[in-house]
Amino acid sequence: MWKHAIEDAIVKIQRNIGRFGDRYPHVGNGRQYSLIENEDWTNGFWSGMLWLGYEYSGDRRLLDAARKTVDSFRSRMEQGIVLDHHDIGFLYSLSSKAQWIVERDTNARELTLLAADCLMARWRRQGEYFQAWGPEGDTAEGGRIIIDCLLNLPLLYWASEQTGKPVYKTAAELQANKSRRYLVRGDASSYHTFFFNQETGEPIGGATHQGYTNGSTWTRGQAWGIYGFALSYRLTGDPQFLDTSKRMARYFLEHLPEDGVAYWDFNLPPDAERPYRDSSASAIAAAGLHELLSHLDEKEPGYAYLRSGLLNTMEALVSHYSTIGDEQAEGLLKHGSYHVRGGQAPDEYMIWGDYFYLEALLRLENGIGGYWYERG
Ligand code: GLY
Repeated sequence: MWKHAIEDAIVKIQRNIGRFGDRYPHVGNGRQYSLIENEDWTNGFWSGMLWLGYEYSGDRRLLDAARKTVDSFRSRMEQGIVLDHHDIGFLYSLSSKAQWIVERDTNARELTLLAADCLMARWRRQGEYFQAWGPEGDTAEGGRIIIDCLLNLPLLYWASEQTGKPVYKTAAELQANKSRRYLVRGDASSYHTFFFNQETGEPIGGATHQGYTNGSTWTRGQAWGIYGFALSYRLTGDPQFLDTSKRMARYFLEHLPEDGVAYWDFNLPPDAERPYRDSSASAIAAAGLHELLSHLDEKEPGYAYLRSGLLNTMEALVSHYSTIGDEQAEGLLKHGSYHVRGGQAPDEYMIWGDYFYLEALLRLENGIGGYWYERG
């Protein structure tokens, strides 16, 4: 089942290279992708898909296209389009770090280290957190962390491994701990974002940005938590991160609708006006579940539940949400949602949904685990 889905994805990637050219898919518009320049938080996912596709197929066209994206990320760095948000980890882990992991290209390694330094520029010493969005000192955004940041942290753990300098890892670990403490609630549900006083670092409170309401659980945020804490466990060995990932995964699986794919928020009322799915949240959760399971003993209580949650999710995505067999479709997964309340792409392809779906398929088929960490 996974092999067939991967092969369909590779054909779509090969076809898309021609139409996308030097631009990048962002979110869907019908059966096509809207294409953007290399200037948003999402550009790394297409690069990551090219690297994954190349590793699976050995197709030189994918390799050439993947290398070209890294050139584009180098030019982005030179132009300084890397400083206004924390998503530098998503961008450079899946582009230049992927090239380093696949080809041991030392220029790609250097570029990735520059990216880690850019992310460090968002570290706020007073509160000991990474500011997610906006300039330092910004009245609205200066004190905000968001759960998505957990996927930016592997870039920093990697930078410490590569340089021998602990500063990156220390900050990443503090951020992961702060996220565990303030973004994850007692029942393992989560806030999308949390505010701190910028001057004193005192906690203020949780709030949503893309979720249904302030106290609700935005499903994609929960999925970032499952995967992000599992990665922080791998890269620090702190068992609290493993436990948090496990609890968040159980929450995610226990709150799924019957067809096994998440709505965009776990707290939508039964008569919600916009009951969209977010297939991208389920794809991220699946890749995260695979990472989490790799750290658990098959005999431990809960393993079988999480393993069947992973398989059910992937079967549902492949059977009911994928575009397998649709030759006109540019995307791999239908019914993702970007920002429902904000009116942005509530029910389209999401390029990150496609990336994590492909990563999860490859994890299941041959154990290739993306580009978040060095391979053993
Ligand atoms: N990291 C932004 C999002 O998940 O929409």
